[in-house]
This record gives sequence, C-alpha cells and structure tokens, in this order.
Amino acid sequence: MEHADLERIVFDTSTLADRVAQMGRQIATDYHGRTPLLIGVLKGSVVFMTDLVRQIDLRLEIDFMAVSSYGDSTRSSGEVRIHKDLDRSIEDRHVILIEDIVDTGLTLHFLTKILRARKPASLALCSLLDKPEARVQTVDLRYVGFTCPNDFVVGYGLDYRGEYRNLPYIGMLSRHVYGG
Ligand code: PRP
Repeated sequence: MEHADLERIVFDTSTLADRVAQMGRQIATDYHGRTPLLIGVLKGSVVFMTDLVRQIDLRLEIDFMAVSSYGDSTRSSGEVRIHKDLDRSIEDRHVILIEDIVDTGLTLHFLTKILRARKPASLALCSLLDKPEARVQTVDLRYVGFTCPNDFVVGYGLDYRGEYRNLPYIGMLSRHVYGG
C-alpha cells in the first residue's frame, strides 16, 4: 500500500529488486577472482547495500563511513565532516563505494578524494539513484541503478528528517509534507 505522504511511487519494490539483482550480477562478473570491499555511506545506503551484497556471488567484505556536510555556506566547497571512519586500511583493496543517491555530487567527490589518497588497488562508485539535474561536481559513477527525476524522493533508505527509510519502495514525497 502506498504511504499516505507520497505523491506517487517512483520505483516499486519489484523494480528495485530486479535492478539490484542485475547490479549484483554485473559486479560479480566485473570482480571475478577478487575480494572487493564494499563501503556504504551511512545512513541512506544501508537498505540498498544489504540487498545488493546478497546478490553478489563472490567473496567480499563490507565497511561503512558516516559523513555529513558542514552546512550550506561551505557545502559548495565539497567539504564534509567524517563522523565514522573505516575500520581497516583500504590499501591495495578493490573498493566499491556505495551510495543511495548522488545529488550535487559533492559528497562522493570529497569521499573519492580522501579514499584515493589511501591507495586502494581500485575505486569504483556505485549509486542506486542518480539525479543528474542537481549535479554541481562531476563524479564518475561506474554502477547506477536508475536515473532519478529531480523530485523529493524517499524510501528504501532515503529519508526526510530521518523518516521513511523503511518504505520498501521509492516514492515522491507530497509537497504538503515538506512545504515545498
Ligand atoms: C545523502 C546521500 C548522499 C548525499 C548525496 O545523504 O545519502 O550521501 O546526500 O548528496 P550530494 O550528491 O548532494 O552530496 P544525507 O546527507 O541525506 O545523509 P543520510 O545518508 O544519512 O540520509
């Protein structure tokens, strides 16, 4: 049942499951014979990532980072604060950075810069959703689930004020909820 706060469903549960399974198969093919390290960017990526890893038939490891932007005035510089760093070194590892959505691209741009400095064997960027219309900073996404309209979307990990992450689909939030 569609949540009452949604204008419409954008990606339903089975559409998400099919695409995530395809992405998992593609990653398994691309990383055959390797043990990639998937890094999830908290919190939005967790629902996607936990589904994705179960579709990757390979030995792999997971880790997480938590970041937030410094605020609107400095956000244009792409600086984000690290609240939780990785547990282990990524040197010589094949790293796949997992996001739920790429909007301006500033978060991934910043993370890419700091992760590359740690000398991984390779670094690929993977996002379930790509909102190209909102892009400020170019990011080189290797894996993209869907191109997303420039609407306020929630569900399947994506939130509004911390809520709606548990919806099993992605929907457009009604304007009456966020006053847009
Ligand atoms: C969202 C999303 C990305 C970032 C993308 O995280 O998960 O990390 O914003 O935006 P950008 O491309 O404009 O940088 P958010 O800060 O909402 O935190 P959350 O993952 O905890 O919801």
